[in-house]
Amino acid sequence: LASPPHLRRLVLTGFMGAGKSTIGRVLASRLGWTFLDLDAHLEQRTGATIPQLFDRHGEARFRLLESTALASALGQSNTVLALGGGTPEGLTNRLLLEQTPATFTIFLDAPFPVLFDRCMMQGIARPVLEDPDAAQLRFSARHPLYRRLAHLTIDTTVLTSEETVDALIAAL
Ligand code: S3P
Repeated sequence: LASPPHLRRLVLTGFMGAGKSTIGRVLASRLGWTFLDLDAHLEQRTGATIPQLFDRHGEARFRLLESTALASALGQSNTVLALGGGTPEGLTNRLLLEQTPATFTIFLDAPFPVLFDRCMMQGIARPVLEDPDAAQLRFSARHPLYRRLAHLTIDTTVLTSEETVDALIAAL
């Protein structure tokens, strides 16, 4: 598959459980691009896990660490980048995403209960999901941020990862 000539980076955004990492991996392999997961990139750079970073530094400092990892990730070409669910909460993160040229941002959307169930099935440790009511409030607060950043929004509620990738490739 020929990669879109005008683009150097595809960025996947959305809440936890949206499928950013799974879809990003498949999309990158279909395009022959590199896949980069921002959480994994951050863990590699700091030598700590995401829950450890939250515990040790708190969320505000976590977002600063995330910004430096994001700036480094956005320096790479021919890359599909999966953000963390909370990345768009950081003002620096939003500016970086909006101002990096040749970057196309895709919002993977689904209703909160669908996302929450997917996360419970995955069983990944996520500090932000410990309180479901607070997570629901965060979802509502973040939704307009995801939308505002996105060049394209796709509802993944009834789609498999492969179907989502097919729809994305058709839209690029
Ligand atoms: C977070 C989402 C996580 C990770 C961290 C914080 C959030 O990323 O960055 O646990 O604030 O929503 P995923 O969306 O990849 O799980």
